[in-house]
Amino acid sequence: MKKLLPAALGALLFAALPAAHADTLKMACNISGAMKPFCEHVKQRFEKETPHKLEFVEMPAASDEKLALFQQIFAAKDGNAVDVLSIDVIWVGLLDKHMLDLTDKVKDLEPAFFPNNWKNNIVNGRIKAVPGQVDAGMMYYRKDLLEKYKEQPPKTWEDLTRIATKIQKAERDAGQKNFWGFVFQGKAYEGLSCDVMEWVASYNGGTFVDPAGNVTINNPKAAKALNTAASWVGTIAPKGVMGYQEEESRAVFQNGDALFMRNWPYAYLLTQDATSPVRGKVGVLPIPKGGEDGLHAATLGGWQWGVSTYSKNPDAAVKLVRILSESDTQKRAFMLLGIPPARVDTYQDAEVQAKAPYLAEFKDVFANAVPRPSTPTRSQFPKVSKAMFNAGYDVLSGRATGEQAVADLEDKLKRIKGREWK
Ligand code: GLC
Repeated sequence: MKKLLPAALGALLFAALPAAHADTLKMACNISGAMKPFCEHVKQRFEKETPHKLEFVEMPAASDEKLALFQQIFAAKDGNAVDVLSIDVIWVGLLDKHMLDLTDKVKDLEPAFFPNNWKNNIVNGRIKAVPGQVDAGMMYYRKDLLEKYKEQPPKTWEDLTRIATKIQKAERDAGQKNFWGFVFQGKAYEGLSCDVMEWVASYNGGTFVDPAGNVTINNPKAAKALNTAASWVGTIAPKGVMGYQEEESRAVFQNGDALFMRNWPYAYLLTQDATSPVRGKVGVLPIPKGGEDGLHAATLGGWQWGVSTYSKNPDAAVKLVRILSESDTQKRAFMLLGIPPARVDTYQDAEVQAKAPYLAEFKDVFANAVPRPSTPTRSQFPKVSKAMFNAGYDVLSGRATGEQAVADLEDKLKRIKGREWK
């Protein structure tokens, strides 16, 4: 009897509890696309370790479109739309007040992550998100074609332009009529801001707005960088590049129709897929320098897991963020999707190293990547970025010279700034 009573009570409780406490949480994860096996794995873990269910919310491809969607949800203070979300490295300050303060729930995790990524997610001393993925721009190239034409991997944009011109011509003469030297992201969206940032920074033209908030873009090195990029369109890059996001560039490169491609690390494993025409033929390089005195400047990207302040079950949402922060989960995201982990320990993992030999070398590129000016420009960054990509687009389309574009951009950025960035 003594034994029976607690058991009966337990059974009663067990019957009562799940119904009272089982919630359905929503996480941003594109289950209908390539992310499917990753979303499913996370769901299994979460549903095994908590009494709750997990559903997924589909996201648009472009970062600025994702932001617009989150802003709509947050403006409505909608607690049913999404609990756990993945936000771009540049949106942490902007979305601050809509993101739950995770400080006491995750601060023990800090030593596991790249320090620059971890710091990026601290706003006014509070931890607002945990790094899920690091990103930095890199240059992909066709190893087989450089060998065939006896060329070394380029160190500067000038080398790249020369090699691309030569090999594009030779491949076309040999019958590959659609072959191009270089593809990148030329559409007017956040991705072009990343490319423009690399061109300008690689010519020592600065970061548009410096860390103290001064507008620095109107300088001859920045103008030269933009003029150089404009010279590629219609020569070594197809005019269509001005409609390309990341995936359009990858489609051309992976199809075997381009020699060089600027992209993020996720593209590597996809190019190595069993069905890929360029499998085994792809190498990766740092973004070229702007001339011998330039810098290898990779734009810092990356995605962070955080919890909506409007979540109705913040404890369960935090549990999900902790699952997403584990080494095993981040390794899995890499093995399945080629997404570079934000956890430093995964870079020592033998399976990870075997799958993408370049990754260990790129650890330093990740650690030193150049941030877009989202911190100094605060809540104005979306406008700043729009002005950056529009200036880039104007030069690529021949509507402005580099010199005109940087002068106009200086005016625009100063107007957005007003007396101070807020
Ligand atoms: C990648 C980067 C992100 C950037 C985006 C631009 O997803 O991680 O930071 O904003 O590309 O397209």
